Amino acid sequence: MDAIKCMKERRSIRKYLKKKIPKKILKKLIDAARYAPSARNIQPWEFVVVTDGKKLKKIAEITDYGKFIADAAACVVVLCDSNEKYFLEDGCNASMNILLAAKNYGIGSCWVAGHKKEYVGKIKKLLGVPEKYEVISLLALGYPAENPKPKKRSLNDVLHWEKF
Ligand SMILES: Cc1cc2nc3c(=O)[nH]c(=O)nc-3n(C[C@H](O)[C@H](O)[C@H](O)COP(=O)(O)O)c2cc1C
Repeated sequence: MDAIKCMKERRSIRKYLKKKIPKKILKKLIDAARYAPSARNIQPWEFVVVTDGKKLKKIAEITDYGKFIADAAACVVVLCDSNEKYFLEDGCNASMNILLAAKNYGIGSCWVAGHKKEYVGKIKKLLGVPEKYEVISLLALGYPAENPKPKKRSLNDVLHWEKF
């Protein structure tokens, strides 16, 4: 898929068809994630892919605005080593790669907040994540059952040439 089309047409999808995502495709999403830019190329990320229905429900219950994870085919939990200075930026880059790769394969996705949320400790405990890792994002994935069109700020509104 054309990169610009992929960026412009990706939307957060929170309703999914009851259809599994092949493991082969899930692997491709994580493969795309590991090519993201990271400060000093440290690549401080790890990815936990959850497809088990019971675990997806538990993750959904732990979150506040991610209850739809219960109906997702998968949830990728993006983690980064918090000892690295730019772990948050790096983890966000990897997360974004997953969302765009998902779009490329016709899979809907939605970023559910991880970092800064009080509930991340519960997510880490559920998944056996070692202490030093921070949860960056919880990425719900599934074949889309909706086609939302949220408004985006116009180019004129956001673009400044040479000075603000
Ligand atoms: C850091 C971050 C946290 C987010 N957390 C949630 C969340 O907890 N629940 C949710 O439904 N959407 C969440 N979203 C998705 C945003 O609501 C969504 O990206 C925004 O409404 C724009 O829509 P779009 O992704 O379709 O362009 C989050 C997005 C980001 C980048």
